[in-house]
Amino acid sequence: FATRRATQAAFGALQSRSFSATAANATKVAVLGAAGGIGQPLSLLLKLNPRVSELALYDIKGAPGVAADISHINTKSIVKGYEPGAEGIKECLTGAQIVLIPAGVPRKPGMTRDDLFNTNASIVRDLAKAAADACPDANMLIISNPVNSTVPITAEIFKSKGVYNPKRLFGVTTLDVVRASRFISQLKNTDPANENITVVGGHSGATIVPLLSQAGYSLEGSERDEYVKRVQFGGDEVVQAKGGAGSATLSMAMAGARFAESLLKAAQGQSGVIEPTFVDSPLYKDQGVTYFASNVELGPNGVEKIHPVGNLTDYEQQLLDVCLKDLKGNIEKGQKWAQENP
Ligand code: NAD
Ligand code: LMR
Repeated sequence: FATRRATQAAFGALQSRSFSATAANATKVAVLGAAGGIGQPLSLLLKLNPRVSELALYDIKGAPGVAADISHINTKSIVKGYEPGAEGIKECLTGAQIVLIPAGVPRKPGMTRDDLFNTNASIVRDLAKAAADACPDANMLIISNPVNSTVPITAEIFKSKGVYNPKRLFGVTTLDVVRASRFISQLKNTDPANENITVVGGHSGATIVPLLSQAGYSLEGSERDEYVKRVQFGGDEVVQAKGGAGSATLSMAMAGARFAESLLKAAQGQSGVIEPTFVDSPLYKDQGVTYFASNVELGPNGVEKIHPVGNLTDYEQQLLDVCLKDLKGNIEKGQKWAQENP
């Protein structure tokens, strides 16, 4: 009995130590679009993350229900779902350190991501306005497509409110890295967990540029072309397979949760955390490309260091040249729209 009491006391002390460590790192994470195809599994994965202390879920419909469901999971974080409207979103965002935005419509077969622009631009603009007012210092993680344009739209909104911090705005391109790593592991029969293929550029078709050579791979001919096409059009593969019921949701939830986890690790003091992500970047500004995804070292202030793309093969350079041309147009479209539709 005495031994059991001693064990319990020791366990209690350990629990209170780990609780105070968690409390010191208290992190509120908000998901906007939380009742959607991505939003629900993303919220679930965030509930399982011990680095998250508060999970705030918002949607134009269904967020309180998703929150009630997820809140029964026996992890410590508090979960709350908010009613649609100005008050709900304000409360949801107040105090948030990370805001993930998967709100918006997904593609159907035959559509490009740019075809979503007309609907999603105003959704992202309105949510960005609410965030600029309620949590101007939060890390903004944009998932809604077309990412190449919705990230510049978010930046323009934050600029118009005088609170833009380029170190805190991220287009989530992690799914491209996840796919590039999985697809090469299928070709080479390796463990995908050990693959980490850098993918640079943007997040649509030809703007997605996987850099296989940097991982020591050199595919040739049709094998190379098919691999690159599969990475660039992996999203279409899912859109086709779902036959009109939407686009990638589960793999995207995993990718979004991975990126949020990397940011949290960096915010909580871990060094050397690097993820490719689409950010306000100096790398190709001289060519008029003001946002670009490359390896970014994350830190407590968001972007710590933007890495250049590094050595490229001639083939990769050709892919990059095409990417830059498309990307410039996508970025300028978002910027112009946001300036004309504030
Ligand atoms: P979905 O339709 O299943 O869910 C979207 C959710 O957003 C819905 O619950 C809807 O009610 C909500 N919503 C709409 N307007 C809103 C608003 N103003 N405020 C709050 N919530 C709002 O779609 P999904 O499959 O989850 O995809 C969402 C977006 O993510 C799409 O634009 C899709 O193209 C994009 N996406 C991006 C990536 C990426 O790699 N970045 C990957 C997959 C999907
Ligand atoms: C993806 O890459 O899966 C997403 O961008 C969704 C889409 O429209 O393909």
